[in-house]
Amino acid sequence: MKSFNYYQPTRLLFGSGRRAEAGAAAREMADSTLLVVDPMLLRVAADKVEDVTRALEKAGVRTVMFSDVVPNPTLDAIQRGAEVAKAENVKSVIGMGGGSAIDTAKAIAVAATHPGTAWDYLYFKDKPTDATLPIMAINTTSGTGTQTSKVSVFTNTEENCKSAMWNDHLLCKVAIIDPELMVSVPVRVTAATGFDIFTHTFESYINTGSSEAVDAIALDAIARVIRSLPVAITNGSNLSAREDLAWADTLAGQCLANVGTTLPHAAGQPISGHFPKVSHGESLAVIYPAFAAFTWRGAVAKFAKVARMFNPALSAASDEVAAQNFELEIERFLKLIGLYCRLDDFGITPDDIPPILVHAMEFPDSQGNPVVPTEEDMRSIYMTSFRAA
Ligand SMILES: [Fe+2]
Repeated sequence: MKSFNYYQPTRLLFGSGRRAEAGAAAREMADSTLLVVDPMLLRVAADKVEDVTRALEKAGVRTVMFSDVVPNPTLDAIQRGAEVAKAENVKSVIGMGGGSAIDTAKAIAVAATHPGTAWDYLYFKDKPTDATLPIMAINTTSGTGTQTSKVSVFTNTEENCKSAMWNDHLLCKVAIIDPELMVSVPVRVTAATGFDIFTHTFESYINTGSSEAVDAIALDAIARVIRSLPVAITNGSNLSAREDLAWADTLAGQCLANVGTTLPHAAGQPISGHFPKVSHGESLAVIYPAFAAFTWRGAVAKFAKVARMFNPALSAASDEVAAQNFELEIERFLKLIGLYCRLDDFGITPDDIPPILVHAMEFPDSQGNPVVPTEEDMRSIYMTSFRAA
């Protein structure tokens, strides 16, 4: 067995109703907090937010609410939050919502305590220090895995660039994973975020830097997504499907924290960076078939194993045949969850690809792909992701 590192210091409070424990858990971090909340949540689930604010109040945690959160978080919104955190002198940050709220909270935890802006602490720049405010996540979607990952993804709108911080200081002190918060997530968001779980686990599994520890939890999470995402899409209030996805997402965050994603995230992130209306999950869905066709030969046994999880009938086929069929199986699954899409569907044209391609090649994720793409390979992956191709 090859040697590996595994680090996961986040205390997990998993289970329906656990949001009621937010106060006691927050009090262990600090006596004051910036509660970063998705504004959508304040509209559609105000009672659930109140459960948390009441718990914080009861525990004596001074709470300042910040709800200037946008999908595909922007550096501007993060800076505004950091200014509030500094002005109010809060000593911790809680992110409540989907990945956007939690990634905003994580970036604020750095921006409020370090010189410059969060953009100065991207994964290839300066490293955040232990001055970073302690972070709690209360996630209301299952998808980003951010509650157990050390990533915060955000966009610099001036540079049209979506990038990420990646550092141990961005690991949450506490994560509350309460599946009751997820039953009202709309179908499209459930599909996009649920598929993101799959991508985090699958890409960590095939990553050349993967390990025995991550392979095991990745396969467990993949099985949960395959069996429960279609159920959650058909019946969003099915709590056991939501629990399955919530746990799969939490495992996926551990995969991200210890291994990480590959080519599809390098190709997908700049699509959302240039076209912010394309959700993260959609940007991955659009790339996956072309990525699979390009990559399967580099990890035949692993592509075959997951293809057979989608379609047990492939057990009778050779590894080569099963691995090659992964592309077909992923297309079937994307159609099943209503997420199959092409670049044309978002109004993207071939003329839009060159600047997207420049950013895609800057991401390090592709270096862990079983077949490392050249710029020409990546261009070809984009071009075959148009409907006309
Ligand atoms: Fe992702």
